[in-house]
Formats: sequence, structure tokens, C-alpha cells
Amino acid sequence: MTLLTVWPDTDASQVLVRTEDAEEIKGELKQLGVRFSRWPVVTGLPSEPSSDEVLAAYSSYVAKVVETEGYVYVDALHMTPADTPEWTSMAAEARQKFLAEHTHDDDEDRFFARGSGVFYLHVNGKVYGVLCEAGDLLSVPANTTHWFDMGTRPDYVAIRFFHDDDGWVGNFTGNRLAEDFPSFDELSAAR
Ligand SMILES: [Fe+2]
Repeated sequence: MTLLTVWPDTDASQVLVRTEDAEEIKGELKQLGVRFSRWPVVTGLPSEPSSDEVLAAYSSYVAKVVETEGYVYVDALHMTPADTPEWTSMAAEARQKFLAEHTHDDDEDRFFARGSGVFYLHVNGKVYGVLCEAGDLLSVPANTTHWFDMGTRPDYVAIRFFHDDDGWVGNFTGNRLAEDFPSFDELSAAR
């Protein structure tokens, strides 16, 4: 189940909202201009699917989002755990990339076809931690301060939607707030 936790940005020990109710999550996020919806999960994808395989499995849903939101580029990527030092260091590097607060000039729109990850949105003096799971589509609007934690053993397949194909750039704010809030591992373990 998707899990939304809301804290004041000044105090990670004070939980304002904690819910696994999809409609409640949708309502909370809508106030921030964040779209959240759930698609039926397609089973039978290989453990390391190609981008085309993932996009084909969700083609009608993807087409609808592209049409509604005007995206021009869509792809899918995966993180599939392996017990090698190479994978462990690659995974740690991938995790670090967007673990500090940042913004993007474009929306960050993601669908989880497998696995999970946490988007933390820093808006209106609060932090909204959305632990997304398979079937979740979440859009972080352009210029929204946020960070993303895929955990220490990342395992997911995600579809990404872009309004341009100039490459995905993070504009880091320098705010170290992310360090004060429960990580992906901690939120997952506490369920
Ligand atoms: Fe981001």
C-alpha cells in the first residue's frame, strides 16, 4: 500500500498525517497541485525489462497521460538488485543523486510498475513523504522542492514522462532538510 506521511518541516518527530488510504492521499496531494493515481499492475514483465517492454505493457495508460499532459518523451528504467560489489556501489551512487532537496524545470512524473521509492515534497512549511508502490503514478510539479529516496537496496521499474528531452537536471537548493526525515529504509521498515 502507498503510504503518505506529513510532518512540519521543522520537526520530523511530529507526524501530522499518516495514511494508506489512496483517496485521502490523492486529496492531500491535490492541494499541492500533485497528481496521484493508481493503475492496475501488469504482471509477467521480466525482472530486467527493456524500456519498450514496460511501455508496451502500459501503452493505453501511457498514451492517455501523454495526451493529457503533453509529454513528448517517455521511457522506463529499472533497478534490479544483484549481490555484487559493482551493483552495490552503482546503487549507492544512484541513490545519492537526488537524495538532497532540489527542483526541476519540468514536472517529475513517475509510474511505478514494480517496487517502491519515496518522494518527499517540501511545500508550505511541511514535508509530504509519499512511499510509492507498484501501480502508483505521481507527478511532482515543476519547481516544487523535493527529494527522492530509493533506499539502500533499490528495486523498482519506473516509467518517466518528460516535456522535453534535454536531459534530467536537478537544481539543488543546498537545504539539508532531507537528512532530518525518515529514509526510505526507515519508512519501509516501520510498516
Ligand atoms: Fe527530482
